[in-house]
Amino acid sequence: MEDTGQRVVPARPHHKLTDDGRRMREVLSYSRRGSRFTPRQAEAWAAHHERYVIPDTVVDREGFAFEEWFGRSAPLIVEIGSGVGEATAVLAAARPEANVLAFEVWRPGVADTLWRLEEAGAHNVRLCGVDAVWSLEHLLGPASITELWTFFPDPWRKARHHKRRLISAEFAELATSRLVPGGVWRLATDWADYAEQMREVLDAAPGLSGGEVPRWEERPVTKFERKGLALDRTITDFRYERVAPSSPSIASSSST
Ligand SMILES: C[S@@+](CC[C@H](N)C(=O)[O-])C[C@H]1O[C@@H](n2cnc3c(N)ncnc32)[C@H](O)[C@@H]1O
Repeated sequence: MEDTGQRVVPARPHHKLTDDGRRMREVLSYSRRGSRFTPRQAEAWAAHHERYVIPDTVVDREGFAFEEWFGRSAPLIVEIGSGVGEATAVLAAARPEANVLAFEVWRPGVADTLWRLEEAGAHNVRLCGVDAVWSLEHLLGPASITELWTFFPDPWRKARHHKRRLISAEFAELATSRLVPGGVWRLATDWADYAEQMREVLDAAPGLSGGEVPRWEERPVTKFERKGLALDRTITDFRYERVAPSSPSIASSSST
């Protein structure tokens, strides 16, 4: 069947079952938004998805490895939640020596990213529509990422939704284990209380060192940053580094 990009598949069920075999309610860091393409997105998808998009289903294949989809071995940069690719295209084009793996579960955003990659000549990017948290846990091994970018992750404003925020102690432990020693994690947010949460969680995370930094100049201003600025919100950037291998218990919970 021709892949028009419009078939909606689960972003990757976490396969967690209760003792009596029922599927567990999952806490996900994203919400399902519309998947309909505009004509421009459909055109971009048709023209470019084969070059850049890793089909969701292939990650289930025995021996699946992201590297094969880049066609070369190179230092791996991972972006989680690349949106419409405004930052991805520019930053990746400036790093032709790296493989840039961008996770985005929102299909229209992926389609929009495609023309930006083409325009920027960022041929070193691959896009993956599978849940990034699940993918880090199951498809990427310990010490496999040289740089991790999480720019303007969904703020989940209501207190009862805070548990859905990407940056949690549990995710920090996983992400740290996936960074190479010396690997860098860059973050940005326009939500003051999320910035505080990031600071608390990441300052306390074993194996990470760093903190708030001036705005990373290279980071292009995206729609989310523009929106935050228009509303007079403060943009906070963080930079952390993996300082030492994390505990063996983390490192051994590698890909399954
Ligand atoms: C607020 S947007 C920011 C997009 C982009 N970084 C920017 O600055 O314009 C956050 C994006 O992260 C994506 N996202 C959230 N959790 C994700 C996950 N676990 N895996 C993949 N994408 C995710 C959402 O679909 C959404 O498009």
